[in-house]
Amino acid sequence: MPKLIRVPEKNVEHAYGVYLLSREHRLIKRLRRDHQPTIHGQKSWESAYLMMDYLSHYALPKKGHVMEIGCGWGAISVFCARKYDSRVLAVDLDPAVFPFMNVLSHINAVEIGHRCADFSKLKGRELGQYQTIVGSDICFWDSLVKPLVNLATRALKNGAEQIVIADPGRPTFYEFCDLMTKKHSVHLQEWYAVEPKRAVGEIVLIKNK
Ligand SMILES: C[S@@+](CC[C@H](N)C(=O)[O-])C[C@H]1O[C@@H](n2cnc3c(N)ncnc32)[C@H](O)[C@@H]1O
Repeated sequence: MPKLIRVPEKNVEHAYGVYLLSREHRLIKRLRRDHQPTIHGQKSWESAYLMMDYLSHYALPKKGHVMEIGCGWGAISVFCARKYDSRVLAVDLDPAVFPFMNVLSHINAVEIGHRCADFSKLKGRELGQYQTIVGSDICFWDSLVKPLVNLATRALKNGAEQIVIADPGRPTFYEFCDLMTKKHSVHLQEWYAVEPKRAVGEIVLIKNK
């Protein structure tokens, strides 16, 4: 079992070496008065915990370039910057998520680059500059499946080494995995996390064949 880490105040959680905040934390409540994410980016989702656990087992290179797509509050970005000194770009379509991400990056003393963009519009040349592209719970609508397939294909074609996506196990996510198997190496595994609480879902690792 993991070592018990005492948190400094209520509504703070500790997971895989980073501090996270619940929706009830005083700083988050204050931010919510001015910023209301509208595409489900209103908290850190459990799939982010799966990804942190996975990336604790399958290490990233130190100081590597990582892009998180559909970052929401950016828990994975913060984790990668904290644990692996990764140079991270966190991308989300909804500008309202970034103030929350900034608070998480400040309390964890890391710097995260960010970009407000639709991931379907990211060009292959830019995607290819990142060794690892990660995302959690970003394939939740039918309309997101094909754009995600196209993004992963473009990224791998242009030099990205791996795409890792965590998901609670939605049909749209499995459809994405199925479509990727046509031309790529796809390794789908059930996964669970134990911090900040137990969570179960899926992780897919996609590479060139
Ligand atoms: C369910 S939330 C997951 C947030 C975060 N990854 C996590 O696990 O806590 C989905 C996120 O994807 C973002 N998103 C949805 N469609 C997007 C798109 N086309 N381009 C970039 N971000 C998108 C939303 O704004 C939201 O922050």
